[in-house]
Amino acid sequence: MARTADHLSPDQQLREASTRLGRRRFLTVTSAAAALAFTTNLPDAQAADAELAPRSLTENPFTLGVASGDPLPDAVVLWTRLAPRPYEPGNGLPPTGTVRVGWEIARDERFRKVVRRGTARAHAEFNYSVHVDVDDLDADRVYWYRFTVGSWSSPTGRTRTAPARGRKLDEVRLGLVSCQAYEDGYFTAYRHLANENLDAVFHVGDYIYEYGIDAVGGDRKYTDRTLPALYNHETTTLEDYRLRYSLYKTDPDLQAAHAAFPWYVTWDDHEVENNYAAGIPEKGQSPEAFVARRAAAYRAYWENMPLRMPKPDGTDLKLYRRVHYGQLAQFDILDTRQYRSDQANGDGWQYPTPESADPARTLTGATQERWLLDGFRRSSAVWNVLPQQVVFSQRKNTTNPTSKLSMDAWDGYPAARERLLTGVERAGVKNLVILTGDVHVAYALDVKRDFNDPASRTVGVEFVGTSISSDGDGEERPSNWSTLLAANPHMKFYDGRRGYTTLTLDRRHARADYRTVSHITTPGGTISTSGSFVSEAGHPGIQQA
Ligand SMILES: [Fe+2]
Repeated sequence: MARTADHLSPDQQLREASTRLGRRRFLTVTSAAAALAFTTNLPDAQAADAELAPRSLTENPFTLGVASGDPLPDAVVLWTRLAPRPYEPGNGLPPTGTVRVGWEIARDERFRKVVRRGTARAHAEFNYSVHVDVDDLDADRVYWYRFTVGSWSSPTGRTRTAPARGRKLDEVRLGLVSCQAYEDGYFTAYRHLANENLDAVFHVGDYIYEYGIDAVGGDRKYTDRTLPALYNHETTTLEDYRLRYSLYKTDPDLQAAHAAFPWYVTWDDHEVENNYAAGIPEKGQSPEAFVARRAAAYRAYWENMPLRMPKPDGTDLKLYRRVHYGQLAQFDILDTRQYRSDQANGDGWQYPTPESADPARTLTGATQERWLLDGFRRSSAVWNVLPQQVVFSQRKNTTNPTSKLSMDAWDGYPAARERLLTGVERAGVKNLVILTGDVHVAYALDVKRDFNDPASRTVGVEFVGTSISSDGDGEERPSNWSTLLAANPHMKFYDGRRGYTTLTLDRRHARADYRTVSHITTPGGTISTSGSFVSEAGHPGIQQA
């Protein structure tokens, strides 16, 4: 039976478009096709608008917790998503319709001093997610928030607005997290993070991993539950990605960390597929299928994150953004995945070649690069902080004069790195702090004007945070520990265990504390500090705290 595109799911529409059109034609119309898929996949407006009676929700819809994000001095985004049955396709809600969701935000945890309240509509079209951008709030203030549907109440979240732009702040405390592979262990690090005293958290990517997860949750080795078989394959469709977020979001430690602080999130590769570059897949997919997959992944990401950014536009989702945090800091949150040139030399660890050195290569895309360098020029902040994905500093893996480098990191895009460093220099940025994830280990590095010349100027510092969970418990000194430190004199610290990083900024110092969990493959890991380093304002460089 013939059906019009309007009656197909976004996945089906994109797949259908890719089979009907030749490859080149498809790539040129893909954006339009995806835009269509994202806006008109509703059978008809009336059915779409049909509001579900709250009493029809007979099971708790707040299984995924709450989150807040992208705080500004007067506003913050509050998030939740309704999912009475988080591990079932559709999450136990009808494929069309809306639910009216109440929200309130208060100055106290008991909601005696509610300052704003309202209702929002959760749409089936966006998997019943809710993004409320609450404004008219006071700057630099803690608030509590919660949602209601009928007689159901969500857990309470705590959040905090950003300080007023010109304000002289004494101190700001931030968290840095990345890389949480559900099947590789428990999110114990988040349980500890939730107990820190932080103003906000940066997540710099790999919020989900796309690989299949078995019935016992991989290394979690569940004995008290069985995960449905639908998790045991790599995510490729919108439904796959949505269900993957549902699984992650039911984790109590992750929920606790979201409920404790507002997050500024950005993605890396695994939110779509390992080491993809812009529209180019890592492996085994046609470009057409990959663009459809990426669009689905981006959409599910938007649905599940406390983002102020508008919903995906066609196949793209603009994620890079700037936040002014008082006079103390400017955060330029980057997206080094969506617009990058393909990895040179076939990806992986390779010797540099003319291909990798090609000045036309970009990691941010030209538009984001211009925006970044322009932001450096206008900045009057004490600290210019770049939360971003892949390691910025050079990392040789031998002490030989030439060494293989990671083609997926800034080492694979040396001309783009050089343009950024030139921009920093020309703008007179004194205090550059780069925050990084991706590599599942912790490093502290001096950012050198010329990484091949240890005597060259140190222009900033890079704090690389380790993973929340990945491939086992890790070890303090991985097998390449001494080689890496010897091969890269600008590397001052390297620890291979799991955890998170806290960053404290004041007018004189940027301080990183590397917080390490004892183990992740069983619950109950303890937390300790494996290293503490500072960089002085006006005198960049890693020093022992
Ligand atoms: Fe990762």
